[in-house]
Amino acid sequence: ANNVGILAMDIYFPPTCVQQEALEVHDGASKGKYTIGLGQDCMGFCTEVEDVISMSNDLQYSGIFSLTAVSSLLEKYNVDPKQIGRLEVGSETVIDKSKSIKTFLMQIFEKCGNTDIEGVDSTNACYGGTAALFNCVNWVESCSWDGRYGLVVCTDSAVYAEGPARPTGGAAAIAMLIGPDAPITFESKFRGSYMSHAYDFYKPNLASEYPVVDGKLSQTCYLMALDSCYKLFCAKYEKSTGKQFSLSDAAYFVFHSPYNKLVQKGFARLVFNDFVRNASSIDEAAKEKLTPFSTLSGDESYQSRDLEKVSQQVAKPLYEAKVQPTTLVPKQVGNMYTASLYAAFVSLLHNKSSELAGKRVILFSYGSGLTATMFSLKLHEGQHPFSLSNIATVMNVSTKLKSRHEFSTVKFVETIQLMEHRYGGKDFVTSKDCSLLAPGTYYLTEVDSMYRRFYAKK
Ligand code: ACO
Repeated sequence: ANNVGILAMDIYFPPTCVQQEALEVHDGASKGKYTIGLGQDCMGFCTEVEDVISMSNDLQYSGIFSLTAVSSLLEKYNVDPKQIGRLEVGSETVIDKSKSIKTFLMQIFEKCGNTDIEGVDSTNACYGGTAALFNCVNWVESCSWDGRYGLVVCTDSAVYAEGPARPTGGAAAIAMLIGPDAPITFESKFRGSYMSHAYDFYKPNLASEYPVVDGKLSQTCYLMALDSCYKLFCAKYEKSTGKQFSLSDAAYFVFHSPYNKLVQKGFARLVFNDFVRNASSIDEAAKEKLTPFSTLSGDESYQSRDLEKVSQQVAKPLYEAKVQPTTLVPKQVGNMYTASLYAAFVSLLHNKSSELAGKRVILFSYGSGLTATMFSLKLHEGQHPFSLSNIATVMNVSTKLKSRHEFSTVKFVETIQLMEHRYGGKDFVTSKDCSLLAPGTYYLTEVDSMYRRFYAKK
């Protein structure tokens, strides 16, 4: 198959959210800590009637595979569920230690008589979605491909224990349809990975939904992984094309976005890398400002607050042009773990769909523990229904953001406490209160005495 890549996308995030400004007050944090310090505007979260399965079902049904004639994106994208040959899920939200989320999603395909679908779940913190995506792309490019589409679902609910990490939560599900002749194709030769053993963020306590986090270490791990991936990416580009790579060679840079400040710091790191490599993206003025830091060792450079400040300042105009258009959904919804990188990409399609044809976009995926890859996409307008403009229309990001309901911080904390209590539990029915959900949304009604989960559709 040729030009394999992403044919279509959709995103779902809960209609419930809390303002970061209100959280600052509630938590007794200094004014601006979450909004300016972390760079976040708002945080989405699941109430007791939503979870990673219902969210991805929403994509299956009212998203790419909607069966209802009215809200059918299936019609818009013209895809029959029988045309799916592989379904891969990326998630780090544990509902079951054995039964995959993918198997829950099989319900829709079974109904259509399609049980011949390969793929299961991929898990490693926020990286699982990328692993799932690569698996699907590789399958379509391989000799075991049977001509049908691949489907990738990234779904997570990110919640943290009370404390400084809590404002970096979020929740969403994203679906991507994979096949040949796509408007979003992979430049697979240009790819750099960095994988190593670290205890920066992990979930060893199986009785709790909350991770154990070493926040400072996770920031350094993210930036170190980014540096390594970028160096390797540049080396592979240079080997393949004979030309030096610099930030000028891509129109946009899309980052895994735990919170926006880390994305700002990440991009500044790439600018510093270009300075060290003496790449063409760095002008004389920038060189002058960064020269005092040219002798720092790798370790020193991660610790230097001055370098962090100066490089962010130097990077600002490039950040505004090449990164800012990717930040909308992550700033509004928060960290969506496996969906976070792709929600940043969704933001780019939403903001710039008419200007993206012919452009190169670089993505950086990071999962704690740790696993990271930088890879390159080439965008083409594509043919309806698989066109950039149609994807932006179908995703309808503005309306989804506007129609959310803001919870008070008190109500948010009550919700989190109820979820804490319910986590891993059995034998309960939910409130079945779906008044805030859009018509067609799936919601959890019951977990029975055998831990079996039941959902209904609004
Ligand atoms: N106005 C403006 N800025 C402020 C204010 C204020 N009133 N108060 C603090 N700040 C700034 C700080 O200076 C800091 O910015 P800087 O790093 O540019 O200096 C920022 O706000 C955050 O303040 P910290 O004191 O560093 O925050 P804290 O340590 O309490 O928590 C952290 C931040 C570590 C990110 C925490 O939220 C966390 O652990 N999150 C989860 C881990 C995570 O997301 N890691 C990222 C990679 S791994 C992953 O994706 C899960």
